Amino acid sequence: MILVTGGTGYIGSHTVVELINAGFETLIVDDLSNSEKEVVDRIEQICGKKPAFLQLDLKDRKKTFELFEKYPNIEAVVHFAAHKAVGESVEKPLMYYENNIGSLINLLNAMNEFKKTNFVFSSSCTVYGQPDILPVTENTPRMEAESPYGNTKKMAEDILRDHALANSAFKSIALRYFNPIGAHPSGLIGELPRGIPNNLVPFVTQTAYGLREQLSIFGNDYDTPDGTCIRDYINVVDLSKAHVVAIKRLLKKRNKSNYEYFNIGTGKGTTVLEIVKSFEKANSLKLNYKIVDRRPGDIEKIWADTTLANNELGWKAEIGLDETLASAWNWEKKYRS
Ligand code: UFG
Repeated sequence: MILVTGGTGYIGSHTVVELINAGFETLIVDDLSNSEKEVVDRIEQICGKKPAFLQLDLKDRKKTFELFEKYPNIEAVVHFAAHKAVGESVEKPLMYYENNIGSLINLLNAMNEFKKTNFVFSSSCTVYGQPDILPVTENTPRMEAESPYGNTKKMAEDILRDHALANSAFKSIALRYFNPIGAHPSGLIGELPRGIPNNLVPFVTQTAYGLREQLSIFGNDYDTPDGTCIRDYINVVDLSKAHVVAIKRLLKKRNKSNYEYFNIGTGKGTTVLEIVKSFEKANSLKLNYKIVDRRPGDIEKIWADTTLANNELGWKAEIGLDETLASAWNWEKKYRS
């Protein structure tokens, strides 16, 4: 059985689907602070198999230990559960450190106690900040985090590295996601931001649906071909498959060291305007947008070198941008109706 924390969330739910498709039994643990329990039924609709579900806040150390007592057959853990809003983390840093770091420590302590050794962690390309040389490889130095959220990812990586050094049995893989977008092709699960979306693609789909008047593009005077920022947008289903591969690597003991980390992106940079154009083309519609000032804290450009993940994990992003943006639109329409 694979324990998926944050398994009703955006990337978590897609990963549960891929784990079930790969033949794994899954257990979702989620506090439902930023997701809906109904996602469990939707996963069942997609896979024909229902994941086990437990509502639990991993900040509760006692309950976290009880979880492992109750499910002795947990073979590996994929840890998604975390707060993820950059702006909110600047306003409420303690909440972010308490939740993102506190939960991780409880989980690792419980795993230690119950002799569980396989751990896959959701990290982020945020650990690179604005790199000098592109694309970024895993050897690109990490930078001072730009937000408490980013710092929790960086600190978590350090905790995993140190824990693996001190405990030769413990093995973990951190996946550094670039920008996950899109939704499951069924349109049954997808990204569901509460309130006004901070991220580009949910804002685009909500604008197309008429929930938002207009997309604001944050700056067109960057040093990029069309002046808008560049990111590496990775399809969420492709991204989810990387977790399945990472789990298998740990279970089959193919890892080369006790703490490994991989870039998970497409290897291709795309500007904000290219996203808008691709969205319009893939869905045969026009998007209402305007150029506004830069958003404070935005980095100009980043994209991944994915050679290590390609070679070591045998994983590669496969789904194209148009198809991904069509899936995002399909999800928005289906969810709203
Ligand atoms: N953008 C707009 N308008 C919007 C929203 C976004 O123009 O309404 C632009 C941003 O300026 C940026 C790009 O679209 O150039 C992508 O922005 P997102 O907010 O979707 O994503 P970010 O790359 O800023 O942030 C993501 C994750 C964070 C993570 C960060 C690491 O959401 O969790 O990458 O770099 F910390």
